[in-house]
Amino acid sequence: GHMIPIRVTLDELKRHNTPEDAWSAFNGKVYNITEYLRFHPGGEKELMRCAGRDGTKLFMLTHAWVNVDYMLDTCMIGFLTPG
Ligand code: HEM
Repeated sequence: GHMIPIRVTLDELKRHNTPEDAWSAFNGKVYNITEYLRFHPGGEKELMRCAGRDGTKLFMLTHAWVNVDYMLDTCMIGFLTPG
């Protein structure tokens, strides 16, 4: 169902850096990528490189053509905020 997006600080994002609890930010949006890990065509290991981090640059380097917004819509948690 629908959820209320939260604001996520970089500190909070950093805490979610394990395969059991992986968050990542892309283009200012924070996603819980835990459930997607095993479905990633590039493998779990590659995707884990952006766990607990802002993965925008890495993502753009590997496949700028992939629509993360659309693909991870249901995994969206909130927005990355400064501070
Ligand atoms: C392939 C999605 C993050 C590395 C792919 C493909 C999709 C995808 C759909 C297949 C693309 C195609 O064949 O045209 C995603 C999503 C991500 C994500 C939704 C974010 C949640 C990353 C990150 C990395 C990465 C952060 C690198 C650190 C790769 C690589 C492939 C790939 C290397 C190529 C695999 C191959 O063709 O053998 N990813 N990806 N991905 N991804 Fe990702």
